[in-house]
Amino acid sequence: MATILVLHGPNLNLLGSREPEHYGCQTLQQINAKLTATASQLGHVLTAVQSNHEGLLIDRIQESRDDFLIINPAGLTHTSIAMRDALLATSKPFVEVHLSNIHRREPFRHHSYFSDIAIGTITGLGAEGYLLALQYAHSYLTTQSHETIRS
Ligand code: DQA
Repeated sequence: MATILVLHGPNLNLLGSREPEHYGCQTLQQINAKLTATASQLGHVLTAVQSNHEGLLIDRIQESRDDFLIINPAGLTHTSIAMRDALLATSKPFVEVHLSNIHRREPFRHHSYFSDIAIGTITGLGAEGYLLALQYAHSYLTTQSHETIRS
């Protein structure tokens, strides 16, 4: 059994009604419910946190005792050196997820402060991206294969 923390950044509380052409129709509650149930089936405990406040997300990263993180930094993807530094300080393995394909959108969304320090990124696969990240977390936590990938 491992613990997995899912962090959702600013404005993701509005999923379901927010720009569905980019972010789909599922609410954050629906996404989190599916993630929690799937993690439980895989034998893990998953906690999901959303905040519109950068400092709160940084506090949560610093306090995390979780084995693996799945993070959609939302708008902070393109701005937050401070959140990047928090992740570097904790050295937690994490996957970066975006609902939309940030590389097919405005140029300012093409750069992420997280991609080069993440194990990997999933972008443009909608809510399914979170589930794929969870499947990866499971395999990372239950096999040794990550040792070769990360070295
Ligand atoms: C997002 C992409 C970001 O550019 C945007 O600011 C978001 C959501 C995504 O999931 O596609 O809020 O991270």
